[in-house]
Amino acid sequence: MAEEMRIILRNYGKIDPLNIDDYINAGGYEALKKARNMNQADLIAEVEKSGLRGRGGAAFNAGTKWGFSYNTPADQKYVVCNADEGEPGTYKDRTIMENDPQSVLEGMAICGYAIGATKGYIYCRGEYPYVVEILNQAISQAKEKGVLGDFDIEVRMGAGAYVCGEETALIESIEGNRGEPRFKPPFPGVSGLWGKPTVVNNVETLANIPAIVEKGGDWYNSIGASRYPGTKIVTLSGDVNNRTFFEVPTNTTIREVIYEFGGGIRDGKNFKAVQIGGTSGGFIPEAYLDTPIDADSMSAIGATLGSGAVFVMDETRDIVDVVTRIAKFFRHESCGKCTPCREGTNRMYEMMERFNAGTGNELDLDLFERLGRVMGKVCLCGLGQAAPAPVLTTIKHFRGDYEAKYL
Ligand SMILES: Cc1cc2nc3c(=O)[nH]c(=O)nc-3n(C[C@H](O)[C@H](O)[C@H](O)COP(=O)(O)O)c2cc1C
Repeated sequence: MAEEMRIILRNYGKIDPLNIDDYINAGGYEALKKARNMNQADLIAEVEKSGLRGRGGAAFNAGTKWGFSYNTPADQKYVVCNADEGEPGTYKDRTIMENDPQSVLEGMAICGYAIGATKGYIYCRGEYPYVVEILNQAISQAKEKGVLGDFDIEVRMGAGAYVCGEETALIESIEGNRGEPRFKPPFPGVSGLWGKPTVVNNVETLANIPAIVEKGGDWYNSIGASRYPGTKIVTLSGDVNNRTFFEVPTNTTIREVIYEFGGGIRDGKNFKAVQIGGTSGGFIPEAYLDTPIDADSMSAIGATLGSGAVFVMDETRDIVDVVTRIAKFFRHESCGKCTPCREGTNRMYEMMERFNAGTGNELDLDLFERLGRVMGKVCLCGLGQAAPAPVLTTIKHFRGDYEAKYL
């Protein structure tokens, strides 16, 4: 396997995650001390300068987001760590929390100091009960050592729905309500948990923070792709030799991910397609393999980096069948709050089933494109907006697979 660059996973395998002294001896909590000696605005400016963009999918500049909460006066503010990780094929946040939980707590405490929050929540995927245990142990050790100061952290267990990873549905869920997205604006940075300014950041985003504070924004900004700097943890699955995870600079190409880290296609078969960014990620054909994985380069080819899940398909895969399963997933996970998503995901699945049964036709493909365009524009949250991407990108790049079902 090619060589990784480990910033987020810098302590992976080197420390005992359940022993805070190991973390401290490896330099842990120095960044929090340094941050607390900085002016809040300067700290936010440093994070902004680093160019760190959210690793949960939306790729928004972390420092800019912190700035919204910092600039909104309130008697209480919150930091929420999004550890819902419901994206199929993604297990990077679990890897971080299992192996270096203190780095996430430190990132949250730095954010708390920066925006003026004294309370943080980690919303952890319900299917990770053992991670909740690890986090709770890590929090009580940090409290015992007094390293967090006046910053308090609580873990909340996820409700088991994919949509609960969407930041406003997640906030509803923490508040004890049904996990359904809110209308935006207002964005959580201004009005989030219980109507208070709330920074919601992904686990991987927060785990980057201590290193950025320690080494400076310029250092981080010089790594990887210029507009999406730093590293990314990729979780690789499907028809590759090494189905594994690794941390690489963001200017690494898809081809390097598949061939140098993934060891190429299994059983000597040929490459057919790769889906990047999770279930709602676009399907990419061979012609785009030399594209870097950073969020901007991905969107330039009609794809997304999303959570960093990379799912590889060999020449024997039936694309229409794969996309039908994805459409079924979205039909199941749509929360039903908005009509375009509730109805759109149903219609999409029905059409995919028709193709799979050999009864689809050219008109369906046109209808798909219209439906996808409408959903992308009018659905309330990212679930419905992005759900058509696998269908649309496969019609674009693998139209022959659809035609083969009815011609
Ligand atoms: C349907 C849906 C599911 C999502 N699931 C997650 C998730 O599991 N984890 C996550 O960090 N972000 C998830 N997001 C993105 C969040 O809404 C939000 O952008 C993110 O938590 C912000 O953190 P970041 O700026 O650090 O990326 C999801 C978004 C949507 C639309």
